[in-house]
Amino acid sequence: MANVTVFDHPVIKHKLTLLRDKNTGSKQFRDLVSEISMLMAYEVTRDLKTAEIEVETPLTKTTGYELSGKKLGIVPILRAGLGMVDGILNILPAARVGHVGLYRDPETLKPVEYYCKLPSDIAQRDILVLDPMLATGGSAVAAIDFLKDKGCVHMKLVNIIAAPEGVDVVKKAHPEVPIYVAGLDEKLNEDGYILPGLGDAGDRLFGTK
Ligand code: PRP
Ligand code: URA
Repeated sequence: MANVTVFDHPVIKHKLTLLRDKNTGSKQFRDLVSEISMLMAYEVTRDLKTAEIEVETPLTKTTGYELSGKKLGIVPILRAGLGMVDGILNILPAARVGHVGLYRDPETLKPVEYYCKLPSDIAQRDILVLDPMLATGGSAVAAIDFLKDKGCVHMKLVNIIAAPEGVDVVKKAHPEVPIYVAGLDEKLNEDGYILPGLGDAGDRLFGTK
């Protein structure tokens, strides 16, 4: 699928399977979300620009590289996106973090915004939008709409599990936004949950069920 990267990596597949398991408790679930996010960050950042710099080893001078180009921002969609922040920050410690609070109305499945706090220079940054679940796509589209309103131009969407329906909705609304998913699942059920999925990511992360 154009502009969609589905990870095909043995370690990610292994961890994703543990994440799906209904017997995995909150502590392990949080650790797995963080670890998968960190592994995904490696690929999501593959196109970052570098500039040559001189570095002095204990033996000699040589040419090294530093990240250049635009500064980075990461924007987790509350709540469940929070679970991905530490893993990404482990790889990108200088990234600034903005928060967008959206919940899905259980009746309409439409996203409702309840919180927003973004770095003041968000429009100058390249943004990774984080949410473990891309189901109907309503939350992701609303978050990207919102960031575009704030002037953001370059965004990538990073999800752990996506439903094909949600991918299509995001691609239609924001075709230029690349989507990265650890697992592309089969479909949504009649309640808007991803099958086979992992259940409610927020509840499993924070033990609220
Ligand atoms: C979940 C999930 C996404 C959204 C995905 O959040 O974390 O944000 O649903 O569904 P969608 O693609 O159909 O919009 P939820 O509304 O359950 O809130 P929470 O993160 O606070 O648990
Ligand atoms: N949100 C979740 O947390 N899980 C789903 O399967 C769908 C939306």
